[in-house]
Amino acid sequence: MRVLRHLFDDNKEWARKIKETDPDFFLKLSNQQTPEYLWIGCSDSRVPANQLVDKLPGEIFVHRNIANVVVHTDLNCLSVIQFAVEVLKVKHIIVCGHYGCGGIKASMDNLEHGLIDNWLCHIKDVYHYHQTRINSLVSDDGKFNLLCELNVVEQVSNVCHTTIVQNAWKSGQELAVHGWIYAIETGLLKDLDVCITNKNEISRIHQIK
Ligand code: CO
Repeated sequence: MRVLRHLFDDNKEWARKIKETDPDFFLKLSNQQTPEYLWIGCSDSRVPANQLVDKLPGEIFVHRNIANVVVHTDLNCLSVIQFAVEVLKVKHIIVCGHYGCGGIKASMDNLEHGLIDNWLCHIKDVYHYHQTRINSLVSDDGKFNLLCELNVVEQVSNVCHTTIVQNAWKSGQELAVHGWIYAIETGLLKDLDVCITNKNEISRIHQIK
């Protein structure tokens, strides 16, 4: 017995609507993908990459995890970045966080949440690096919002520190890494102005010759 029948119905209707405007859309897409963007975002159901920048299938290569964290040794994320950069030749990597992120919130308390605490430790590290700045804010909301932003900035750096991105720059490949944040309550994106396009823009210790 097929369960979740409504999702299959919705899928049929969705495909029908797309074919209505472009009858060959799926056929063309089945032959190749040529996305210009790699999106690294939060798994949060309210932050769907394609929808919030109004892009169709085939336009964005996507990796999502809790709190859009890029860990130096995460083979899953690194494999996505490698494929996107070396095979798909994306021109932009966008790390997109969001305000009100549950992962960020959970990293700010001292409670036990189970296995996920090991993942959230990476965000606690970000808090630790920037604790003077964060703790200088009075309101809890202000601290929370700032950590959501600083986490994006930190993950942009982590993307740039990978051998994948640095090798792409070394070979002259055009590749920019961006940090954005999304506000769920307005549906709007904000650019955090941390666009990095070459190795001279990252910290010296991380630069690979
Ligand atoms: Co989140």
